[in-house]
Amino acid sequence: MKNETKEASATAKLSEEHQIILKVIAALRAHCDALAGNAAIDKAFFEKVLDFIKGYADRFHHAKEEDILFPELGEPGVEMHCDPRQQMLHEHDLGRGFVRGMEAALKAGQRAELVENARGYCGLLEDHIYKEDNILYPMAEEALGAKRSAEILARFAEVDRKFASVVKEHLAFAAKS
Ligand SMILES: [Fe+2]
Ligand SMILES: [Fe+2]
Repeated sequence: MKNETKEASATAKLSEEHQIILKVIAALRAHCDALAGNAAIDKAFFEKVLDFIKGYADRFHHAKEEDILFPELGEPGVEMHCDPRQQMLHEHDLGRGFVRGMEAALKAGQRAELVENARGYCGLLEDHIYKEDNILYPMAEEALGAKRSAEILARFAEVDRKFASVVKEHLAFAAKS
């Protein structure tokens, strides 16, 4: 019974998306290791990764957090014993900074800067995802309760429908990564 509740929760859906993001991050890390060992920059791979990060991790996943989950956590009657939302938003912004750094380095063919920004992004997101999965999300579910959580999940489903075709492409890329 407990598991059924968890499967239907809003944050369980977000945690599923984290696993897809982590898969691409692992592939990005492997490319960075290869680059540190003198391999040529695989421009097409980095372009696809940037497309995934911007389209899936940020515009799709982070938007669900920023536009739906986080505002709900600020609603009257939703009480958390601490509020890590500002820190999470700050980390989303730091991630965008690394993305801009990667784009600039890729364009200029600067391998050291590319690796530095890519590794910065990987480390940031791994930590960020860990904090959300293990601290924020469990706390959020407790504060929201099953009914509000199910309502948020329904709103996520609308976003899923809206982005269905583009998400399908990003998932195909992640599956191959
Ligand atoms: Fe986040
Ligand atoms: Fe997240």
